[in-house]
Amino acid sequence: MSDSLLLDVQDAHVEFPGHGGAVRALDGVSLQVHRGETVAVVGESGCGKTTLARAVLGLQGLKGGRIVLEGAEVHGTTRHMAEHVGMVWQDPYASLNPRWRVGRSVQEPMQLAGRRAERSSVAVFEEVGLDPKFVDRYPHQLSGGQRQRVAIGRALALKPPLVICDEPTAALDLSVRAQILNLLKDVQTATGCSFLYISHDLTTVRFLADRVAVMYLGRIVEEGPTERIFSEPRHPYTKALLDSAPSLERLMHLPEAPAGEIPDPRTKFQGCRFASRCPNRGEVCLVNDPAATVEGDRRFYCHFPVAQDSATIKIT
Ligand SMILES: Nc1ncnc2c1ncn2[C@@H]1O[C@H](COP(=O)(O)OP(=O)(O)OP(=O)(O)O)[C@@H](O)[C@H]1O
Ligand SMILES: [Mg+2]
Repeated sequence: MSDSLLLDVQDAHVEFPGHGGAVRALDGVSLQVHRGETVAVVGESGCGKTTLARAVLGLQGLKGGRIVLEGAEVHGTTRHMAEHVGMVWQDPYASLNPRWRVGRSVQEPMQLAGRRAERSSVAVFEEVGLDPKFVDRYPHQLSGGQRQRVAIGRALALKPPLVICDEPTAALDLSVRAQILNLLKDVQTATGCSFLYISHDLTTVRFLADRVAVMYLGRIVEEGPTERIFSEPRHPYTKALLDSAPSLERLMHLPEAPAGEIPDPRTKFQGCRFASRCPNRGEVCLVNDPAATVEGDRRFYCHFPVAQDSATIKIT
């Protein structure tokens, strides 16, 4: 393993048993995050993004594959997990105890790791741009943006090399969203940490991420440097996601795609899992699962990729 490799997800499988068959929430996900980089995971609701985050944190066991973090395989959560990976959820209440003063929530990870004396809550508050006098407040006495700053402070208290953010700005209004994104960038500059950044919002992804992994039904279908993915997507699903993102020019029109429903995740796919919605599909797509095509620093899985100079594609 190279020194710069921080997180190595290798062919991860997660299944949830249920009526009518198991949901394969992760169906062979492989993804690497290097030190200091921001990798975004994008994809429609239900494609497995949060399950991936939970698996990296050791909160979700794997049915197959492995996850290696800082050279050690992840097996469940441990007391020391917070030293390796911090977590910022969409809803800060998920990481803050409503009955604790927020200073205590920030202090707790340091206490559990036996590093209590290292930094005060006040110092952490200053790092995330919060007035230190807020340490004695309860979560409900703060605004949504302030609560998310506390949650980021808690995730960063032990200066973990990896921070996972799962839709961290989705519940915030636009002006606060920008402040939180700038905070995440500043934190990265100051600490050199890596981000695994999960989001539906392609604008924030473009702002923050060095690399983008596009996920569809438990698999990564395309992955590469952000600007390459945005300027010349090769997988028809990536292109449809980009075409469906709201833009200023189209402000008065609701986005048309991705239209159609993501198939039932209990389906056993024989060919390409995107075939049922894909405008490029051919017969082979219904039979053979596409292998990886590697083009320099980007990879994608498609029998009939989007031509580099193609016009807009819509999901059928
Ligand atoms: N605890 C669970 N029990 C059963 N099924 C689950 C469980 N957690 C997730 N799933 C299923 O696994 C699939 C992936 O869910 P996941 O929450 O990872 O998606 P997501 O990409 O994070 O979606 P969203 O964008 O809506 O947050 C979905 O089909 C979901 O219904
Ligand atoms: Mg989710």
